[in-house]
Amino acid sequence: MTRLAAVVLAAGKGTRLKTALPKVLHPIGGLPMVLHALRTAQRAGASERVVVVGHGAEQVEAVVRSFDPDARFARQIEQKGTGHAAATGLAALTQGPERVLILSGDCPLLRPESLHALRAATGDRPVGFLSTELEDPTGYGRVVRDEQRRPIRVVEHKDASSDELRIREVNAGIYDVDLAFLRDTTAQLQSDNAQGELYLTEVVERAAGEAQAFCLADPSEAMGANTRAELAALQEEAWDRAAGRWMTEGTTILGRCHIDEEVQLGQDVTLHPGVHLRGRTRVGDGCVVDVGSVLSDSELAEGVVVHPYSILEQAKVGPGAQIGPFARLRPAADLGPGTKVGNFVEVKKSRLGPGAKINHLSYVGDAEVGAEVNVGAGTITCNYDGFAKHLTRIGDGTFVGSNSTLVAPVELGPGTYVAAGSTVTENSARDDLVFGRARQEVKPGRAKAVREAARRGKI
Ligand code: UD1
Ligand code: CA
Repeated sequence: MTRLAAVVLAAGKGTRLKTALPKVLHPIGGLPMVLHALRTAQRAGASERVVVVGHGAEQVEAVVRSFDPDARFARQIEQKGTGHAAATGLAALTQGPERVLILSGDCPLLRPESLHALRAATGDRPVGFLSTELEDPTGYGRVVRDEQRRPIRVVEHKDASSDELRIREVNAGIYDVDLAFLRDTTAQLQSDNAQGELYLTEVVERAAGEAQAFCLADPSEAMGANTRAELAALQEEAWDRAAGRWMTEGTTILGRCHIDEEVQLGQDVTLHPGVHLRGRTRVGDGCVVDVGSVLSDSELAEGVVVHPYSILEQAKVGPGAQIGPFARLRPAADLGPGTKVGNFVEVKKSRLGPGAKINHLSYVGDAEVGAEVNVGAGTITCNYDGFAKHLTRIGDGTFVGSNSTLVAPVELGPGTYVAAGSTVTENSARDDLVFGRARQEVKPGRAKAVREAARRGKI
């Protein structure tokens, strides 16, 4: 097996994006573009990976490190072009690989299979690179071929003649290069071009007819992200691919859904239109996520139903639970098996025991709710006194009547019965009945007198 290394070019600023975030950190499918490149390099078998960083170097390095602790970095202080970037990356290689894959940090939809195909097509030629045919090749480098159809040069859009601009085969900016050849040629690059940069594309010309171009059938793999419009197009394509992939794996997808790259779905999951599954969300077997729900970094066990328009963020939901419609689960909401959280209920940093129900219009934060507890409509845990957060504990089987306020810190023993409309400030023990409201008075017949007075303008 050929020893393979990868150099990912990720130092550019992304001028055309007009962005404060380094270009390669813009996410596609929830994953920063530079990580797409790294993942593809890993999957293509590159045992050593170097990322060339420059703009926002610290930021890019931190993101890369959390994803691929083995990746190393080469700092390109001045961005003098892709050729200079590649040379900077080479200097950081240690293991003496035979061949180097050069990937672009802004080309996120490249498939590892295409790198395998490139490897096979290139063999031991000095250079192989990926190309594709585009309807609109504007902005890309064009692949110039000789009479025998051999690629002899790549000419950048800005340097191209009007004849060359008509070429629709473009350079994808992905290379498989012999290390020794690359070292030699990058040392000789010239910046006598429209952008005054050292172009990596020059290696094609320097291979003097020995270069190999492997033309990708699917042009989306070569799509770069130089503009916001291109970013949007890449994102659409990534979502299409994710939906296609999950349908193949046995997911029912009933309309346009946005599924991020790192999402995991079990078997027989059903996703209704407009569902967004973000970050590292995991959805268990047989779950249904209904229209318009947004799940970020959340975990559903098997058989959970999320009714329409629910929002989950870093939440954990046990088997067979029912959420929504219009529910909001915030970070560290941890719902036990068979729980129910209904409409306009917000749960934050709270554990719900098996079978607990909060069906309508409630806020439960910083709480431990026992098994089979019933929290009535309009109940609020007052967890914050303006300075610190406090805990509410509700024992198993407790019934909290509607419109109660539980002023934390407070603890209700198991089987407590809280009368509706109570303001609860004191703890209760097992099976206590808690009243926390003004007693009602009934004055027989007085309504009539009140009405009379009102009519005469006396009250
Ligand atoms: C490049 C190719 C072009 C190809 C296109 C495909 C060159 C000269 N041109 O153009 O033929 O069609 O990609 O998308 O190579 N970078 C650095 N340091 C630098 C310059 C760039 O790390 O000094 C990185 C960028 O962060 C980016 C990648 O290299 O990830 C490509 O650079 P970019 O400026 O986007 O090149 P293109 O103009 O798109
Ligand atoms: Ca680019």
